[in-house]
Amino acid sequence: MSRITIIDTDPGIDDAVAILLALVSPEFDVAGITTVAGNIGIDTVTRNAGRILALAGRGDIPVIPGAAAPLSRKGFDTADIHGSDGLGGVTFPEPVSEPLPGPAWTWIADMLDRHPKGTVDILALGPLTNIAMLVRERPESASRIGRLIAMGGAVHERGNVGPRAEFNIAADPEAADIVFRAGLPLVLVPLDVTRRVRATKADTAFLRESGTPAAKASADLVDAYFQSTGSGESRPLHDPCVMLFAMRPDLFELSPLRLSVDCGFGEDAGALGLSDDGPEVSVAMKVLGAEALALLAERLTRPPPPVPDAPASSRN
Ligand code: RIB
Ligand code: CA
Repeated sequence: MSRITIIDTDPGIDDAVAILLALVSPEFDVAGITTVAGNIGIDTVTRNAGRILALAGRGDIPVIPGAAAPLSRKGFDTADIHGSDGLGGVTFPEPVSEPLPGPAWTWIADMLDRHPKGTVDILALGPLTNIAMLVRERPESASRIGRLIAMGGAVHERGNVGPRAEFNIAADPEAADIVFRAGLPLVLVPLDVTRRVRATKADTAFLRESGTPAAKASADLVDAYFQSTGSGESRPLHDPCVMLFAMRPDLFELSPLRLSVDCGFGEDAGALGLSDDGPEVSVAMKVLGAEALALLAERLTRPPPPVPDAPASSRN
């Protein structure tokens, strides 16, 4: 049974693999992609969302731009990892349609209001700025979210933008704090699990041999990831873990943790802490990494599903 799904994202190499996974998986009826500045600027992430949809033959799915900057601080620039085009220089077609007018959180709120409470999920793959704006401006709509699954944070794992800070949370700690305290049906997928779902060169070769557009593009994206991040036998697939959790939560182990977010400006800005008086969040702390990776490969190498008759936006 597919679920109406909104993907909030900053594509981004691993975002692109995650979006391609969702588009070929029957569990997701992707109603729209909302974009947020993060890995690269809002115009580039918005164009990239359209390019990924065009490659997958899903130009019927709308793209809606969101926040061009964090709530109250300067963001990061990760062109060194995701490339100046945000997709590692991998060839993608141009978008087949213009984005809808933003802001993304208004479109998300209207979608939530249009469908029965609890039937629309949000998969968040970047900084949580759009979700925080949804909570601030349309709290009643936000309370109708079915599942909110977000990649972000590091609990016992070392950070990737600071000793303890992970990019998505550190890019907008204030937004994360608002989202954690909002009482939403949130599952957080931190580096503690995403670093255990890793692709090797053999995996990219397998994907490429399958010949499906999603698998070939994902192979090129992961190979670009290898290029941009130097040595290492494998690369972690952070954002695809959000879709993998949504598809097979039994591959993960959740822990209820009371979290604090460092909203300072030191080296640990954005770091998560365990705090007795923090909001309780459901955090994925364990994963069967090999099984999760096998599921990703199995889906990406399937023949692409038929494009629905009616455009997604008109069905939702
Ligand atoms: O820390 C990993 C996260 O930061 C991923 O979402 C990746 O796309 C980057 O945005
Ligand atoms: Ca991302």
